[in-house]
Amino acid sequence: MNKRQVVQRTASFVRRELEGEGTGHDWWHVERVWKNAMKIGRRERADSFVVQLASLLHDVADWKSHHGSESAGPVAARKWLHAAGVDRATISHVERIIRHVSFHGVNKKSMQKTLEGKVVQDADRLDALGAIGIARAFSYGGYKQRPIFNPKVPPHQFRTASEYKRDTIKPKASSTINHFSEKLLLLKDRMNTRTGRLMAVRRHRFVKDFLTQFFREWVGR
Ligand code: ADP
Ligand code: NI
Repeated sequence: MNKRQVVQRTASFVRRELEGEGTGHDWWHVERVWKNAMKIGRRERADSFVVQLASLLHDVADWKSHHGSESAGPVAARKWLHAAGVDRATISHVERIIRHVSFHGVNKKSMQKTLEGKVVQDADRLDALGAIGIARAFSYGGYKQRPIFNPKVPPHQFRTASEYKRDTIKPKASSTINHFSEKLLLLKDRMNTRTGRLMAVRRHRFVKDFLTQFFREWVGR
C-alpha cells in the first residue's frame, strides 16, 4: 500500500469505529479535525502522512468513553497501523501524538513535542471552539444530563490534570455554561502554531458573543 492508500483505509476504519458515537467524538468530528489538521499542517510545513494518520486516529477509543483508560486509544491505533504495514518510526510518532492530544486542565502543559503533534492538537482544539464547539458542548452536557446553566454553581478552576479528568468522567452538578470558562475560553491562548492561533481568533470571538447574548437573555433583556 502507498501512503495515500493507507490514509484512505485508515479513514474508512475510523469511520466504521466511530459512526454513531454520541458524545461529540463521532466520525464528523474526526473528519473536521482531519481537514483542519491538513490545512494547518500545509501552512506549517509538517509531515502530511503523520498529521493525517494522527488526526484520523486521535479519538479512537477516547479515554472518557473507556472507563478512564488512557492507553486503549494508542494501543488500538498501533495495532491498526501495524496491520496496514506502516513503518515503526511513523507508528511510534502517531501513537505518541494521540496519547497526549487531549485537554487535561489549565495547568497541564501541552505534551506535544513535535510539529505534527502541535498541528493535530490545534486542529482538535479548533473543533471545541466556534459554533461547532458550542454545539458539541451542549451535546456533551446533554449526554451527561447536565443543566445548560445553574447560577448557583460557579465555574471551577481545575488545578490538576487528575482533578479535571475526574470531573469530566463523573461530572458533579456543574453546568455546560461553566465548561465555557473551565475550558473553551482558555483554548485560544493555548494554541501551539501560528496558523492555529490565527484560526482560533474568530471562533473564540464567536463563543464570547454567544455568552454575552446568553446572559442578556438570562436576565430577560
Ligand atoms: P478533546 O477532544 O480535547 O479531548 P473532549 O474529549 O474533552 O475534547 O471533549 C469533546 C467535546 O465535548 C468538546 O467539544 C468539549 O468541549 C466537550 N466537553 C468536554 N467536557 C465537557 C463538559 N464537562 N461539559 C460540556 N462539554 C464538554
Ligand atoms: Ni477530538
